[in-house]
Amino acid sequence: MAFDLDAVLAQKKAAGLYRRRRLLDSAQGTQIHVDSRDLLNFCSNDYLGLAADPRLTAAFQSAAARFGVGSGASHLVCGHSSEHHALEEELAEFTGRERVLLFSTGYMANTGIIQALLRKGDAVFEDDLNHASLIDGGRLARADYVRYHHADVADLAVKLQQSTAERKLVVTDGVFSMDGDLAPLPELSRIARGNDAWLMVDDAHGIGVLGENGGGIAEEFGLDTEALPVLVGTLGKAFGTFGAFVAGSETLVDYLINSARSYIFTTALPPAVAAATRASLRIVRDEGDRRARLREHIAHFRREVALLGLDLMPSATPVQPVLLGDNERALAWSAALQERGLLVGAIRPPTVPVGTARLRITFTATHTRNDIDRLLEALAHCRRNLA
Ligand SMILES: Cc1ncc(COP(=O)(O)O)c(C=O)c1O
Repeated sequence: MAFDLDAVLAQKKAAGLYRRRRLLDSAQGTQIHVDSRDLLNFCSNDYLGLAADPRLTAAFQSAAARFGVGSGASHLVCGHSSEHHALEEELAEFTGRERVLLFSTGYMANTGIIQALLRKGDAVFEDDLNHASLIDGGRLARADYVRYHHADVADLAVKLQQSTAERKLVVTDGVFSMDGDLAPLPELSRIARGNDAWLMVDDAHGIGVLGENGGGIAEEFGLDTEALPVLVGTLGKAFGTFGAFVAGSETLVDYLINSARSYIFTTALPPAVAAATRASLRIVRDEGDRRARLREHIAHFRREVALLGLDLMPSATPVQPVLLGDNERALAWSAALQERGLLVGAIRPPTVPVGTARLRITFTATHTRNDIDRLLEALAHCRRNLA
């Protein structure tokens, strides 16, 4: 049978689900040059504005001068450099965990960890709105795959109690990537422990942003290794670089080094990226005013946008979606914002459930009040002039 890929693409176009890439021709930041235009950016995950910070660039360049560009091998062969190792130790101290293991991406961390921890006869319990990498990890594992309703602790409790699996792993986003709300971690942790299950949290959008010191959702809720045994963070968002890590016990990390396929069978991150991340970690820890500015932007935006009568979600994080429902409607609003010089992504299925297409607005510490006001003005324009 032929692969009729043209037909699939045509269906996607007809359903408003076709995706294309924009061409970026500048550094990441609040002002970017994209598709030959200067745009005010409200769709990156560079929450603290560090992706193009000169201190990171300098650390990258100096490490590249010493180590070269490529790491040349996987961590277990001869690619594990002193920069990787130092970053792991510093992240362990930052997260208050015994040990940290770097992965090349968050996608690889999530799939590799879940697959490594579970075997036949076990079960994984996942929030309905978990990120694709967590869902794929659950599917790759040879364990039972159980979904619970979004942030619904009671539903999870029933499903855990009904399960006869030998070992149980509860897996959730910390900050839900397309909704911006927080997982009810203290309750999830209590239910997991009460049912002899482990809790794994992917804090991709919380690390660096939440908590007094940027320690993320674990710091926000004060959860130690016993309450939260498997903590994943990514480095391509608030940290402004690339890669990911898992933080936990000495034994967990040792086990993953010996078992996680996406760790073992891939080339190590470039050491210069690890060096840039060490510079970033210092800023994340020391410059709390960046988090304060973000909180001010979020509060101002939510206060003002409520007056426009737009459908906001219950989010206190830099991810502030405006729910529009229909795919074409989300595309039309995004295009109208772009006309006015603003870049905001239209998020559609399968990234979000059918009928919940949305604008995913994200804030960065380096946005100004004037930037936010331009966004509010453009949203008011859409509200008045578009369906
Ligand atoms: C919640 C969540 N987890 C994991 C990832 C994947 O991380 P990475 O980009 O490092 O692969 C993303 C997005 O990129 C995400 O939003």
